[in-house]
Amino acid sequence: MAENGRVWQANSLVQTYLTGVRGAIPHANEQIDVMLRLIRAACPNVETFLDLGCGDGILGRAILQQYPHAQGVFVDFSEPMLAAARELLGDEGETAVILADYGEPDWTKQLNGLFDVVVSGYSIHHQPDERKREIYAEIYDLLRPGGLFINVEHVASIDPWVEGVFQDLFVDRLYAFQQANGSTMSREEVDRTFYSRPDKVANILAPVEDQCRWLRAIGYKHVDCYLKIFELAVFGGVKMTD
Ligand SMILES: C[S@@+](CC[C@H](N)C(=O)[O-])C[C@H]1O[C@@H](n2cnc3c(N)ncnc32)[C@H](O)[C@@H]1O
Repeated sequence: MAENGRVWQANSLVQTYLTGVRGAIPHANEQIDVMLRLIRAACPNVETFLDLGCGDGILGRAILQQYPHAQGVFVDFSEPMLAAARELLGDEGETAVILADYGEPDWTKQLNGLFDVVVSGYSIHHQPDERKREIYAEIYDLLRPGGLFINVEHVASIDPWVEGVFQDLFVDRLYAFQQANGSTMSREEVDRTFYSRPDKVANILAPVEDQCRWLRAIGYKHVDCYLKIFELAVFGGVKMTD
């Protein structure tokens, strides 16, 4: 079940993530702010965007708030996640919600046209590195010239010591978030649960430096890691006009 992120097709993990984890991600608001700032700079008038591995559509919905007339496409391979996305999207904007597995090379066949912006949040790290690179190239082909790709992503720590510091921060945030929402779990219990969580085995983390190098090799410009705190990074690049 853990293979290439398929744990996310289980309703129990989806509910745990949406109600107990997403809101605890350190600097999640700043990540979205940076994403929107980059979008404004690259494409002042977003007409089309894709949210890949959208979950409940948190990134795409942030884009829709800024660009209510944009056509948004939300892709995920988890039915319970797409149900959450549909519910939160409601009648908002002109959106399409598509069940597709981007681990399969033909996933792009379900899409029409080119996008001004492609975003992805905490998703592509479930693929092996070789497939990540292929997906970044497939996204490049889906962008119109001048279009922007932003990956808000879980990346590898440089060593186990840094990984320990990150995990400590994350457990602190999870504990505080869950306490604020009425949980009676001790920090030790939150820590234990965090270490044995089902999606952990599905993570295939890669250093952000490597991933930026892959993007440059594909042809993306302005590539950088625009924001990072330990293992949480916002990186991407622009498809240049010819
Ligand atoms: C940690 S959640 C993140 C959801 C959302 N993007 C966010 O930022 O909160 C990872 C999401 O990626 C989706 N996912 C993982 N592998 C996928 C694949 N191969 N194809 C489509 N979606 C995938 C999962 O179903 C899940 O909704």
